[in-house]
Amino acid sequence: MHTDPVSYVRNAIRSVPGWPKPGVTFRDITPVLQDPQSFRVLVDLFVYRYMRQRLDLVVGIDARGFILGSVLAYELNLGFVPVRKKGKLPYQTLAEDYTLEYGNATVEMHADAVKPGQRVLLIDDLIATGGTMLAAAKLLQRLGANVVEAAAIIDLPELGGSTSLKATGLPVFSVCSFS
Ligand code: PRP
Ligand code: ADE
Repeated sequence: MHTDPVSYVRNAIRSVPGWPKPGVTFRDITPVLQDPQSFRVLVDLFVYRYMRQRLDLVVGIDARGFILGSVLAYELNLGFVPVRKKGKLPYQTLAEDYTLEYGNATVEMHADAVKPGQRVLLIDDLIATGGTMLAAAKLLQRLGANVVEAAAIIDLPELGGSTSLKATGLPVFSVCSFS
């Protein structure tokens, strides 16, 4: 590795202009996952950040948050809980609606997934408007969890999500940002 870990990961993220629609540049993490060295650097960045945080659980957001979230939970010897899009979880659920750029969506979590007072890391691949992360944090807070940090690989600061998440009092971390 000829560069620092953050630049190494950032350089491996692929930017795809005009996808999924004109005017949007998609920040694609699949090249980071595909390359064993950048995948390991990425996971290790998060392991070092959270290994002494006395976490109880890692909660990952459907679908890209499952990839890093489950690896990280395993590496930190913690359990993993999925926050899923509506209609996918089989048992009793809690739901939170949120607003997308066009229209609405709902995320759900199992009602017994987290216990009051548990120290939870919330993780996804990317923060754009922050709507998805905020809805997931609300689910956790309704169950009495302590959200230690809302973390992502990528922040898109121009969309304001990380700023509005921080304004709710939530600690927010991202490895890198793109504008
Ligand atoms: C993407 C991304 C985040 C969310 C960020 O997921 O993985 O979860 O959007 O956007 P926001 O900050 O504006 O809420 P998407 O809903 O596209 O689902 P996917 O992971 O299944 O592709
Ligand atoms: N989710 C929302 N905006 C995105 C973007 N620009 N790239 C990847 N995922 C996203």
